[in-house]
Amino acid sequence: MTGPDETLEDLEPHGSTPALDVHEHDLEDPRHAYDTMRGLPLAEDELGRPVLCRHADVVAAAQDPVTYSSRVSRFLQVPNGLDGAEHRAARDLLDPFFAPARMASLEPAVAEVARELVDAVRYGTPFDAVGDLGARFAVRAQSVWLGWPRSLEPALLRWMDDNHAATRSGDRDRTRAVAERFDAIIRRLVDARRGGEAPHDVTTELVGLGDVGASPLTDEALVSVLRNWTGGDLGSLALAAGVVVHWLATHQDLQDRLRSAEVPQLDAAVDEILRIDDPFVANRRLVTADVVVGGCPVEHGQHVVLNWTAANRDPAVFGDPDRFDPEGHAAANLVYGTGPHACPGRPLATLELRVLVRALLSRGRLSSGPEPAEREQPPLGGFSRVPVVLTPDTSAAGAHR
Ligand code: HEM
Repeated sequence: MTGPDETLEDLEPHGSTPALDVHEHDLEDPRHAYDTMRGLPLAEDELGRPVLCRHADVVAAAQDPVTYSSRVSRFLQVPNGLDGAEHRAARDLLDPFFAPARMASLEPAVAEVARELVDAVRYGTPFDAVGDLGARFAVRAQSVWLGWPRSLEPALLRWMDDNHAATRSGDRDRTRAVAERFDAIIRRLVDARRGGEAPHDVTTELVGLGDVGASPLTDEALVSVLRNWTGGDLGSLALAAGVVVHWLATHQDLQDRLRSAEVPQLDAAVDEILRIDDPFVANRRLVTADVVVGGCPVEHGQHVVLNWTAANRDPAVFGDPDRFDPEGHAAANLVYGTGPHACPGRPLATLELRVLVRALLSRGRLSSGPEPAEREQPPLGGFSRVPVVLTPDTSAAGAHR
């Protein structure tokens, strides 16, 4: 369901917050603006909402869902807009879709998607790790997981572009139109699974849950779940792919180490890259009691913004925020959030990024392209473009593969 006042952040856990007041020189890398904001007693965004940037403040808020409610939107959002027992029930119903056994059986198909896309890259020819690779991979991997037809890919890719453009513009009519378009795509897929001819896939399973009497999945809830699993995630994953590929292209030694790394080391390295340059910037909460944050009072009824990107670079926790230390920083890493709303899709995102990195590194060596990478602008994070080049790996490690 859509309404006149909504923004994408009202609709998705991975929606974005309105732009922050960022100085022009910081637009080259908005993380510098967040680093500055973290030093203020309490930063505000352009709507005057307090922005929590310190690691301790963000963790305290995310782990106290009674004082910091997730009911930030007037629209139904399952599970992200729910609190308490209702939220727990929704997570209990939905989290099994990301269980280890399911992820393990999905891995070969998602790895095949990654290989197919990476094999199509021409050695020596620059390509954009966000638009040419990350976005396509995100859409194709999601479609394989949910059982959506390949023929939907162009419409989903167009939608992702428009979604980003609408988010950047801050124009509510535009964001509403984009949201409605996505809802229409989802409703068609759900309707196709109502009859006896429904294919056996994850989407059909989800639609089937709606028929369970005690389940909170009404039709509206079902569309919201699918929107949360796809609409926001597609963008997050494409941006995450851009950040990871950019880091690898500018850190040749790490490519060598990761080529032969075991799964836990590879996953930890990807998480740490995303901590240093977290493309998933922020989520909101509704404050239900008068609180004091960083010595500043915040009144009950106010919205606050939890800035994960800033918290993930807090020197009080990580020292030099750019220091790469996968094992040492893992426990405090907030890329996938913390508390009851922590990302349920983490196992899927981790799997997708793992197979993508493996496909790239087993095909060759990544280096920066002739054009510089371009930063995304707030409220989005990461890069909008990451031109890179893949060349055959002639090192001893590569030659022996
Ligand atoms: C690199 C990719 C991803 C990143 C960085 C990311 C990050 C996050 C973060 C930080 C949260 C916490 C939000 C909050 O506390 O308000 C979250 C929640 C959520 N994520 Fe992800 N996510 C990713 C991929 C995915 C995927 C693949 C899915 C599903 C297919 C997914 C589905 C969700 C949902 C449904 C929530 C809301 C959970 C709740 O409120 O209980 N995410 N994500």
